[in-house]
Amino acid sequence: MIIRHPYPHEVETIRALFAAEVAAGLMLPRSPEQILQHLDDWLVAEEEGQIVGCVSLVYFNGSLAEVRSLAVRSDRRGRGLGRQLVEAALALARERGVRRVLTLTRAAGLFEQLGFARDTVGNFPEKVWRDCAPCPFRHRCDEIALVLELTPGENDHDLLCAPGVSAGGVGLRAEARWTP
Ligand SMILES: CC(C)(COP(=O)(O)OP(=O)(O)OC[C@H]1O[C@@H](n2cnc3c(N)ncnc32)[C@H](O)[C@@H]1OP(=O)(O)O)[C@@H](O)C(=O)NCCC(=O)NCCS
Repeated sequence: MIIRHPYPHEVETIRALFAAEVAAGLMLPRSPEQILQHLDDWLVAEEEGQIVGCVSLVYFNGSLAEVRSLAVRSDRRGRGLGRQLVEAALALARERGVRRVLTLTRAAGLFEQLGFARDTVGNFPEKVWRDCAPCPFRHRCDEIALVLELTPGENDHDLLCAPGVSAGGVGLRAEARWTP
């Protein structure tokens, strides 16, 4: 399994990973244009030549980003891929100088295992104004806000150097690979 940035022709495959959740009102849609314009903020998991998972970073400013659109193909869930995708997104965020990472999710346990702490979305007006205010589900939102401080430390070194999202390699498709 490798984690890498997607190619433009993979946009619809990415959207298909969470189409069922979008249809059920559990995840917000991402348009092809939104994905294409920010391909380097997306990561996909590839197994045996197939895209089986995805995650994206959405920036509010240079130091705050959100982990968003995490999805693993239904037949590949429960094998650690979701966790590895979030870890890869965190490594990418660190590499880009992000200091705080936010997520809104129903899979809080997954993020708590990675050190995220529960918070309230009201503490992130950037998120509320940009995404929550226009969201059709805002009056029945059951997502939990979690935040992780990316303070430099020993773990940073491990994340930056061990898993193939190598320093300086982000954005270079061939190098932005993570082979656990
Ligand atoms: C949520 C999702 C990405 C998890 O992917 P996955 O590959 O099955 O997750 P992992 O196997 O990496 O799980 C890692 C850990 O997180 C936990 N976890 C996974 N999904 C969870 C959930 N929905 N709620 C709480 N904990 C969860 C697992 O139990 C596992 O813990 P363990 O190691 O102690 O067993 C996947 O179920 C999915 O795509 N769901 C549909 C889309 C979605 O809901 N995305 C989240 C929106 S932010």
